[in-house]
Order: sequence, then C-alpha cells, then structure tokens
Amino acid sequence: MMNFQGSHILSISQFDRDAVSRILQVAQSMIPYAARQKRCHVLEGAILNNLFFEPSTRTRISFGTAFQLLGGFVQETVGAETSSLSKGESLFDTAKVISGYSDVIAMRHPEINSVAQFATGSSVPVINGGDGANEHPTQALLDLFTIQAEMTRFGKGIDNINIVLMGDLKHGRTVHSLSKLLSLYNNIHVTLVAPKALQMPDYIVDILTNAGHKVTMTDSMAGNLQSDVIYQTRIQQERFSSLEEADRYRGHFSLNKEVYQQYCKDHTVIMHPLPRDSRPEANELDVDLNDNHNLAIFRQAQNGVLVRMALFALTLGVDEKLTQYEKPVTWYRG
Ligand code: NCD
Repeated sequence: MMNFQGSHILSISQFDRDAVSRILQVAQSMIPYAARQKRCHVLEGAILNNLFFEPSTRTRISFGTAFQLLGGFVQETVGAETSSLSKGESLFDTAKVISGYSDVIAMRHPEINSVAQFATGSSVPVINGGDGANEHPTQALLDLFTIQAEMTRFGKGIDNINIVLMGDLKHGRTVHSLSKLLSLYNNIHVTLVAPKALQMPDYIVDILTNAGHKVTMTDSMAGNLQSDVIYQTRIQQERFSSLEEADRYRGHFSLNKEVYQQYCKDHTVIMHPLPRDSRPEANELDVDLNDNHNLAIFRQAQNGVLVRMALFALTLGVDEKLTQYEKPVTWYRG
C-alpha cells in the first residue's frame, strides 16, 4: 500500500484501490469533527499555504476549512497577479520559498502539469487543487466518497454501477480524474454524453475500456440516462478560445425535472462538481430539481471537507492519532 506520509497528491494515477479505500475510510472518521460533535487539534501549529491562481469557491474554502478543523493555521494567496509569478518568477523558485514557510501546500493553477512542476521545488507535500484541464484528484475522491455514500442507500457499492458523465468532458478535469478513479473498480457501465466536439479525450476512454468497463459514447440524452448516477458538468468556458465558441455548446444538455422524469430512473442520483451555470442560456442543472432527494450536489460539496481532512491527516502522518487530540465543542450549535 502507498505510503502517504510526506507524499504529494498530484494525480489519481498514483493510487491503487487499497490507497483509495484508506482515504475514504479516514474521511469517514472525520465526520464527528466536521459535524462539530467534537474538536480535533492534531494539526495545532501546522501551516497550510493555500495557493489559488485560478477562480475557486468550494475547493479553496474547503481545503482551508478542513485544515482548520484539524487545528492548523491557513494562509491564503488568491490570483497570480498578487504574487511574484506575475514578475516572471518560476513555479520552482516559488515552491522553494513558500514550502519553507509551510507544512503542506494546496495549489490550483490554469496550466496542465503546473502543480507537478511546482512540487519538484517543494520540501513539503503539495496537493493538486486542479491544474488546467488535466486533473482534480481531490474532487474525484470526494465524488467517489459521495457515490459510495449515496449507493449505500440502495444497498449497492461502487462496483457494478451505471454512471452517466454529461457535459464538457473534453475540458472538464473533474471527469478526467473521476474516470481514472472508476478504472480501479469493477464492471462499471460509463455513458459519456457530450457534443461530439467536447467528448472525453481518447486516453481517458482507453483507461476505462482497459479496466474492462463498458463505455457508451453519445450526443443524445434520449434513452441514455437510465443510470444509478448522473454526473453533470459545466461548459468550461475559460478553456475555449472565445466566449462565442463556448456559447455554441450551452443549453444542449440541460437536466431539469422534465428530462429527469422522462429519461432517468426513479432514484438516479444527481451529482455535479459545482459551480452549476444557472444563467438561462446554460441552465445545465435546473433549480426545479432542488427538492428531489436524489439531488446530491450539496451533500457532495460537504463531503469535500471530509476528504480533504483525510488527505491532510494522511500526508502529515497523523491519521492514527486523531482520537488522542480531541476536545469538546464549547459553543452553541443549533
Ligand atoms: C470544478 C473545477 O474547478 O474543475 N469545480 C470544482 O472544483 N468543484 C468544476 C468546474 O469549474 O466546472
């Protein structure tokens, strides 16, 4: 099994199924702390540098929340324009310096492989919070945690499920990392619903088929959404050469109550990494599904805190010490 302590978390490719099970198990053990039934101060005194050179809400804030829930301090850098990267400093030099100020670093950057490049200069673990269209490993882990949790409601696991990945599969890094993760499991039917020009890259399709999974590729929702899980994604407009080009693909695969009733199963679980594009011309996941109990999007976002707590505990080698560092919660919690 992989030794997490001191490791960078850069790509799903570095994990086997046992390593993923361990992450999900540690994430599960974080529930009492995230739910504020107890506190845990096992990382008291440790410093996370949270470096986000691309827009983010959930990923950045949940990394920070996760670290603080374990008692650590968080320093935030948002936007390359406020750092010396805008003066031409290399990622390597930046990493040499910032890692000297940190115990762990979480980083998002618009370029493919940038976080791995940064990690070569870092003396502390670096966790990839998204590198361009490449990967978003912590999102995939929280997605898998969510699939497991939601499937438990129906007496199922991760093996043997049907899952639809829908939307911008070409530029969406979350679906790339999630596909790699699904390739560690057995007998999954993956249906890829996207406009032809935004279909899943061949190398990811190969990873799924080499794992023995059945892969269906289509540009039509009709007859293709009868799945256990549907994972909707946003048109990644920031990765198109122009806004007009991105506009061409908006609104083709909107999931709403009518589509759900017509094409999905009674209990198809709806997931989305968020943000959903709620502008009328996109409306990829309609608010008319908000009262559907199978809409898992906010449970999914909440699970991000648990998974990121687990990754901090594992990379900093405190995953077996959590219960020794507990304290009571002293404030009002509703
Ligand atoms: C995703 C991302 O940044 O790749 N968001 C997230 O981290 N939850 C998906 C997206 O931006 O569409």
